[in-house]
Amino acid sequence: MFDFNFDWRPDMETKIEVLDQQHMQLFRIGRDIEQMLRVRCMGVTEIQLLGIVCELRDYAAYHSYQEEKIMKEAGYSGYEEHKKMHAVFSSDIEKINMPKLKENPEEGLKLIKNKIQEWVFEHMLIEDMKMAEEIRNHLKLKK
Ligand SMILES: [Fe+2]
Repeated sequence: MFDFNFDWRPDMETKIEVLDQQHMQLFRIGRDIEQMLRVRCMGVTEIQLLGIVCELRDYAAYHSYQEEKIMKEAGYSGYEEHKKMHAVFSSDIEKINMPKLKENPEEGLKLIKNKIQEWVFEHMLIEDMKMAEEIRNHLKLKK
């Protein structure tokens, strides 16, 4: 996977504020991981690793819930399919093995970083954008 920094850019916005706030939150977690990798995980503690994993699990849960609620309320045409993608992401995050991560934080964090990166490029910037466009048009029509 190519090198990517979690620097937020305005063209990544869905223009649905609550979703953008949450997407930025994911980038913040991504940047925390970058920081740790930059020093090759030197001095990184088990508590810090656990913090990253917990934040990601929380994120997958609250963000999926919020986005699915918005999609459902707006009657988004791709709702079911989109929901399935969230379930796959959540289950990937659930599978992060804490003892293994503790054993080799650098390797583990690289894998997690790649997973988030893949999610950003394959889901957030494509599927979420597609969904947000339809929802924005739907809201405009309702006005
Ligand atoms: Fe999504």
